[in-house]
Amino acid sequence: MTTRKILVTGGAGYIGSHTVRLLLDQGYEVTVVDNLSKGYRENVPVGHLVEMDIADTRRLAAVLKESGAEAVVHFAAFIAVGESMREPARYFSNNVCGSLSVLAAMADAGVRHIVFSSTAAVYGNPHATPILETFPIQPVNVYGESKVMVETLLRWFDEIHQITNVRLRYFNACGADPQGRLGEQHEPETHLVPLVLRAVESGQPVTIFGDDYDTPDGTCIRDYIHVNDLARAHIQALEYLLGGGTSDAFNVGTGTGHTVLEIIRAVEEVTGRKVPYTTGPRREGDPAALVAASDKLRTKLGWKPQYTDLREIVRHAWNFARKSKTGT
Ligand code: UFG
Repeated sequence: MTTRKILVTGGAGYIGSHTVRLLLDQGYEVTVVDNLSKGYRENVPVGHLVEMDIADTRRLAAVLKESGAEAVVHFAAFIAVGESMREPARYFSNNVCGSLSVLAAMADAGVRHIVFSSTAAVYGNPHATPILETFPIQPVNVYGESKVMVETLLRWFDEIHQITNVRLRYFNACGADPQGRLGEQHEPETHLVPLVLRAVESGQPVTIFGDDYDTPDGTCIRDYIHVNDLARAHIQALEYLLGGGTSDAFNVGTGTGHTVLEIIRAVEEVTGRKVPYTTGPRREGDPAALVAASDKLRTKLGWKPQYTDLREIVRHAWNFARKSKTGT
């Protein structure tokens, strides 16, 4: 069997780098394109990184042709919801125009398949939980809207250029490479699990954004998924498209929700330390519960989460946080 060649945009970032490792472990030939505006050079194994901006369509088309890529996994994007509401132009430009450039380069180079990082934020405040892929698309922030716009671009590039796509709508990615090689390091950090781990290390309390929601303990419920389970969904999506599958959208979550307090308790169990926390007001735009119906991904792509124990997910994140702090 010939080696499958894949181009990954944003492969130096959190989810991208975990996916690249799994692709390499499974024998794929991988070219990473990243401008390192958010990602880290050391996340990409030597020899695989082309440092460039996805907005450079001509160069990207040349890299696609040179690498012989049969498919693209497109991660490169800005991801902070709050920031997107302060700087909409930057978000639309990077996320939408960047993706348009990727699609134009693919059309030019004759690359026919793309797996796209979409988000649960496309559903906005859903009317029910768990969330099905058929729920209304009604984002409530610029970040989510930018992903919806790309989903629309994908439809037209399929119709006109026969570029088939899988849109993976992520829920809450967390955890780290079980071998400790990679982990989550956003700057600034806004995500719950790394913030709770930082609170343990620094002694500075993390703030719970609201404890008066209509949930069992009053804190928000989210669907926390191990980054490697998320990464595997990309590989299964690639295999589906390379095998002739038609364009489709899938939720990527475990189907189980956890409250913020449950995350705090899991961190306490794993670290053996108390988590200092305070309770503050609700964060604007936070729905009470976001849990994926993941049956479609399981049935159609044969995906199944490998890490269903929250403590194991937290343990991997904790191992990475300690390792990067001590520099070992
Ligand atoms: N939270 C706190 N305190 C904090 C940070 C978060 O209580 O300091 C709470 C939030 O209110 C939320 C939960 O922890 O209930 C998770 O918050 P995150 O910021 O980690 O993640 P979100 O659920 O807000 O967002 C994630 C992704 C987004 C994506 C969204 C889709 O980070 O990119 O899921 O639902 F858009």
